[in-house]
Amino acid sequence: MKILTILLSALLLTSCFGDDAPISNAQLGQVTFEKNCATCHGKDGEGIVKDWKKRQADGNYPAPPVNGSAHAWHHSPKTLLSTINNGGAKLGGQMPAFKDQLSEEEKQALLDYMYSLWPKDIQAKYSAQFK
Ligand code: HEC
Repeated sequence: MKILTILLSALLLTSCFGDDAPISNAQLGQVTFEKNCATCHGKDGEGIVKDWKKRQADGNYPAPPVNGSAHAWHHSPKTLLSTINNGGAKLGGQMPAFKDQLSEEEKQALLDYMYSLWPKDIQAKYSAQFK
């Protein structure tokens, strides 16, 4: 039984730390995203409307996907961070500001997490341009 426990914990440990993830903090990012962003941007950043380019009944634009299928990946980490901090109010948008809601670590983790949602070719382009 003891051996089994040891084997099992070894397995668990390797599954947590074993894969050589290129992205730091992706898990913190995922949790933070699900708590703060998923209601508007979708659980996996896929968005929650069919056409994010179409105004809604109230005249506002819906939250765009952040999974690589819209524009988020065109913006530098600095710009993305500024969107998270300040929201969309300055541009007449609807996104709330998270400046005081989240720690710097959580915000960085969110950037890593969104990056992790993008297709590999987009990640490669982004890294070449911004990292
Ligand atoms: C209440 C809904 C709502 C929540 C919650 C929300 N967003 Fe947004 N987000 C939007 C909307 C709407 C836009 C489009 C700009 C605007 O209208 O403010 C947007 C824009 C963005 C953009 C720019 C996308 C692009 O293509 O340029 C990013 C990045 C983003 N949000 C990330 C996040 C993250 C990360 C969180 C969680 C910390 C979050 N958002 C929470 C509604 C939301």
